[in-house]
Amino acid sequence: MSIPVIAIDGPSASGKGTVAARVAKALGFHYLDSGAIYRVTAHAALQRGLDLTDEAGLAAMARDLDLHFDGQEVYLAATPVGDAIRTEEAGRAASRIAALPQLRAALLELQRAFRKAPGLVTDGRDMGSVVFPDARVKVFLTASPEERAQRRYKQLIEKGFDANLPALVQDLRERDARDASRSAAPLQQCTGAHLLDTTDLSIQEAVDRILAWYSPD
Ligand code: C5P
Repeated sequence: MSIPVIAIDGPSASGKGTVAARVAKALGFHYLDSGAIYRVTAHAALQRGLDLTDEAGLAAMARDLDLHFDGQEVYLAATPVGDAIRTEEAGRAASRIAALPQLRAALLELQRAFRKAPGLVTDGRDMGSVVFPDARVKVFLTASPEERAQRRYKQLIEKGFDANLPALVQDLRERDARDASRSAAPLQQCTGAHLLDTTDLSIQEAVDRILAWYSPD
């Protein structure tokens, strides 16, 4: 039997990361934040002075990326990248390079290597459609743009960053439009995915819905 995967996709700041991490904890599964991979890749490209439109150069860099996770922390070689990848600027850069098909292909194996026993919970944009099409449970998790902007605002303030609510709403709308309209792995509710609108749900209610959709055999 293949190792079970729960794939949670959805737009920026929908809360999918928090929900996915809790589902993983409840089941004793591994957790992969695939957005962090795109963010770290963009961060590494900017650090190396690469042009964010140089598709072949970015893909070559991504294939050799020495990246690993330790809990919430992401490391590039031995160096923790910390909150540098959590800024809006890093999110925008990630979304730009994420539109490049060669770059996405270069990151496929890296992501699939996280599928380890007893199971994996992962969140992103194309976890159920492209990276793990045989996922046991697929979820499209969303919330209204205003609610998502509020959540992102709170998250940024908690991390000590400056944040402006109207600018965040605008930024989320632009990022959603870019993620949904790109030709490579666009953000969409894929076939077989449960729709979970969390606008009026608590984190625990969202977690419980997903746990109810999962059955071990
Ligand atoms: O989820 P997060 O906001 O951290 O993702 C940052 C960006 O990375 C997204 O806006 C999206 O463009 C890209 N991404 C992606 N596919 C994934 C995860 C993230 O294209 N599986």
